[in-house]
Amino acid sequence: MNMHSSDATTAEEAIAAQEALPPLTNEDATRVAMQNTLLTPRFYTTDFDEMDAIDVTPVRAEWDVLIAQMKADPNKGHFKKTADWDTVDWDGMEPKLKAEFIDFLISSCTAEFSGCVLYKEMKRRGSNEDITTLFQLMARDEARHAGFINDALREAGIAVNLGFLTQSKKYTYFRPKFIYYATYLSEKIGYARYITIFRHLEAHPEKRFHPIFKWFREWCNDEFSHGEAFALLMKTDPALTESRVNKMWIKFFLTAVFATMWVRDHQRPEFHKALGVDPAWYGQEVFRKTSEITRQVFPMTLDIDHPRWQPTLNRIQDANVRIAAGERQGGMAGKLKALGGRIKAGANFVALLTIPVQKNAVPDSPRLEPVY
Ligand SMILES: [Fe+2]
Ligand SMILES: [Fe+2]
Repeated sequence: MNMHSSDATTAEEAIAAQEALPPLTNEDATRVAMQNTLLTPRFYTTDFDEMDAIDVTPVRAEWDVLIAQMKADPNKGHFKKTADWDTVDWDGMEPKLKAEFIDFLISSCTAEFSGCVLYKEMKRRGSNEDITTLFQLMARDEARHAGFINDALREAGIAVNLGFLTQSKKYTYFRPKFIYYATYLSEKIGYARYITIFRHLEAHPEKRFHPIFKWFREWCNDEFSHGEAFALLMKTDPALTESRVNKMWIKFFLTAVFATMWVRDHQRPEFHKALGVDPAWYGQEVFRKTSEITRQVFPMTLDIDHPRWQPTLNRIQDANVRIAAGERQGGMAGKLKALGGRIKAGANFVALLTIPVQKNAVPDSPRLEPVY
């Protein structure tokens, strides 16, 4: 019998295990995964030589502990269906919920796989053993995560073609420092999102309409470790978080990542209703946890309780509805409507940036454990 992606020790093995499954050419799912908009997960490329040149000596003690934890691989074999995987009644699922949930799974699979391709490429191109070891371990985890979501999608007769995506999806270039900010944040917000849903469903098991949520605790611990690695990487160069310009970039990335999450989640009302979660509550809860965690390395947090914060996010959300409606409508009037929406979204994003931040004194040692 072939190996399952959850037992793979490298990303390559995990992807091969997924590809070896009976072919399911679902062009719709892959087409959704191929989309590149401000709101869909992208694939990234960077200056791999610059990243390979990182010297982790300043954080050596903490680095070795983290890498040893990741090498011990506590989640090997976790990301596969077991007896806990209840039967999913896809045909009986309310159509709107089904559509939103499938969209959620495809977008999550793409985001997981986006991490995998970036980390795998860094491992392939690098020669610095510290760096290649870390990136190979993270690529392994992300390939398992993406593979597991694909297993869930397969039951609905859908799969994202991971090999095709690697070859054909457009790659966006980010300078290494932007990769650190964006990836660090996406790992930590990923942790906060998964654990918040997991804890909510622990308290309200009757709302667990799909078994995949039972796997979220171990899952988010992987993301937490990945985030820890990026926190240590940023600690190797104080200018990354302390220079005036970089502080502005950090604020920009925090705002962009939070606003994107807000808009994306508000696009899935039925999904959140089924979970019994108010997207605004969920957003704020995730922002709060993420902010608390990022105090390990970022010199500021966003003021998410500022009176202008939520109303401005809601205006960006309204603008997004207008953009989507304009695009659906088509023609000159539709184009104008979408353009109006983009201007409104942009202006409100700038308005978010004018909210003063809360300063944070960064601790000497960034290391944290997942506590939520
Ligand atoms: Fe992941
Ligand atoms: Fe991750």
